[in-house]
This record gives sequence, C-alpha cells and structure tokens, in this order.
Amino acid sequence: MDWGMKNRFSRIIRPNDGRCVMLAVDHGYFLGPTERLEVPYKTIKPLLPFADSIMLTRGILRTSVNPSTDVPIVLRVSGGTSIIGEDLSKETITTSIQEAIKLNVSCLALSIFVGSKYEHQTLVNLANLVDSGEKYGIPILAVTAVGKDMVRDARYLALACRIAAELGAHVVKTYYCENFETVVEGCPVPIIIAGGKKLEKEIDALELTFKAIQDGAAGVDMGRNIWQSDFPVAMIKAVKSIVHENYSVKEAYELFNKEKKKEHKNPALTR
Ligand code: 5RP
Repeated sequence: MDWGMKNRFSRIIRPNDGRCVMLAVDHGYFLGPTERLEVPYKTIKPLLPFADSIMLTRGILRTSVNPSTDVPIVLRVSGGTSIIGEDLSKETITTSIQEAIKLNVSCLALSIFVGSKYEHQTLVNLANLVDSGEKYGIPILAVTAVGKDMVRDARYLALACRIAAELGAHVVKTYYCENFETVVEGCPVPIIIAGGKKLEKEIDALELTFKAIQDGAAGVDMGRNIWQSDFPVAMIKAVKSIVHENYSVKEAYELFNKEKKKEHKNPALTR
C-alpha cells in the first residue's frame, strides 16, 4: 500500500485497535426515503460526532453533511437500481473517481451480488473500482449484498467475502451468521458487519455486535439498528462501547439505558 492508501485506510479501520464504527445512511440510493431517514440531515447531525466514519451517496453528502466535518467519508459509488425496478443486482458505478477525489473521501463502497443474475457485472464493477482506487490511493469497501430469497449462511457469505477480497477489496461488509468465524477466516481483509433490518429490541442489536466482534469482525457498518431506535445517540454510543472498549452486552445495554435518559426521543420522528 502506498502512503495515501495507508493514510485513508487508517481513517476507516482505526490503527490503535483495528476496529471501526461506520454509520450507514446510504439506504435511500435504492429504497428512497427510508423510515427515520426521510430527512437525512436530521438523522445524521446528532449521530455524526460519535461515528468513526459515515457511509453515504454523494447526493446526501452534498446536501446533508457540513463540509467542515472531520469524520471520514465512505462514498457509495454503486447503484442505478430501485426497489421497484427490474433487478436489484443490475448495479453499475454511478460516481466517478474524480468526483470522489473532489469530495475528499476516505473510502469508496460498492455492492456485489454473488449468485444473482448480474453477478458478473457487479464483480467486474468491483475489479474496475479497485483499479481506480489503487491508482489514486483510495481503499475500496465491497458490500456483499444479498437478494431477498438468498440464504445468508456462512457458506454463501464466505464465498461472497472471499471473492470480494480476491478481486482486491480492502474491506468487506457482510452479515453476521452462524459459524461467522469461518467467514472471517476465509477472508484475508477486515470484515465489518451490517446490522440489517431493525431488530425488535436494542439489546438484540448489541448482542449481534458483540458476537460479530467476538468472532473476528473488525467492527460495524450499521444503519437501521441505530437510527431507527427511539434513542439513536444512546444506541451508537452503546455499539461503540462494544467495538472499541470491549464492553459486554450487559455493560453496553446499561450504557444505552443511562444515555437514553439524556436524549430526547429520536428527532427524525418529529420532523
Ligand atoms: C444498503 C447498505 C447499508 O449500508 C447496509 O445494509 C448497512 O445498513 P443496515 O445496518 O441498516 O443494514 O449497504 O445497501
């Protein structure tokens, strides 16, 4: 890795502990105004001070994040599909590397859809993006997207993560699953986990985070389980305590309960 790549990478996976709390707010790129992310700046503003990095599209970056921020930007550069369109896997690269450099981003993110109709196209997208990233010293986060009907088991996720790493991704985002340690073992670059759909209770998401870290994840790229909580700031602090301070689930949940007393109910609810 050259200096620029190393420098940017160290802004994503923190060198002091090799961990990362990435706040995911890119959902609108195919889902439109997702619940509690309807007005992005209202969701983002209170959470940004507690995120190690933020993952979003250029449209939301430009309109909803103050350019004076020092939080590293992970720019989603794949898309071109919608939840009501023909096939979610038919993604292409939607933002140029020059634009990403102008936006001063620390990392580029792109989805791959292994096993889907457009698998080949998305894997070639990744390979091309890695080439561009290598040229300009920008690391690539590969997102292992799964279709509605696809099983998120260790065999499938290990396949998708390994392919992402083989094609040159510097970090891979996937889902937690049973036997997750085998997914980590087969992937030579750091793995971070998505939270997935909002779980019923906050403690469930904390448990998910804890288990993923125990099994070798480098951290989270979490969205809905943070900002769809009634107390998102308390939630990101609790997630962070597990990722960076090795809190147990019980300790993190105690922190959540303590912090939620200081927080007004989710401002994204009261637009
Ligand atoms: C959407 C994404 C999201 O960033 C990812 O799924 C993380 O968010 P969540 O924790 O809400 O699942 O890549 O395609």
